Amino acid sequence: MVKKKACVFISGAGTNLKALIHASRFYNFPINISLIISNKKKAGGIRLAKLFSIKYDVINLNNRLHEIKLLNEIKRNKISIICLAGYMKILSKNFINRFKGIIINIHPSLLPKYKGLNTFSRVLKNNEKITGCTVHLVNENLDGGKIILKKKLNISKNEKVESLKKRTQLLEYRAFSESIVKLYRGN
Ligand code: GRF
Repeated sequence: MVKKKACVFISGAGTNLKALIHASRFYNFPINISLIISNKKKAGGIRLAKLFSIKYDVINLNNRLHEIKLLNEIKRNKISIICLAGYMKILSKNFINRFKGIIINIHPSLLPKYKGLNTFSRVLKNNEKITGCTVHLVNENLDGGKIILKKKLNISKNEKVESLKKRTQLLEYRAFSESIVKLYRGN
């Protein structure tokens, strides 16, 4: 099977990236990770790029020239899908429109609830009983594009931010790869 080339954008530890790298090792997983872009040179995920010999670049996207550099890299590497895996920078309208329908993001809540940052503390503060994660297409609205897949979990009685984060992230690892399969196979 010919796999599509994916680019993963990160800003932090890269645990979702790690899960995607592992999934992509399966022969029937639809993508290969060909490029990793970090906006931070100290992002933990860069270690994974080195470990797995995946091409990477640090591009801060602070100005138009950075964006042109990024657009060129994506083009040069024949990227078919862009996965935002804990990427903490807002992409420009221009960038999003250029790659409409092929940028996906993972968010640690059941969208449309709890868009934006600090989802776990807000979820707990509101005494929610259920939360989860969502993979969605990226459009110009923050955490607002078409939903591909959601996964739910029950919040425990004495749940704390840290435990909820951990449990949600475990769910995210499955959700991200399942949504990529869903996107390509339509199931
Ligand atoms: C994930 O929980 C994701 O939902 C959020 O940022 C976190 C990134 O974690 N957008 P990691 O870098 O993949 O470990």
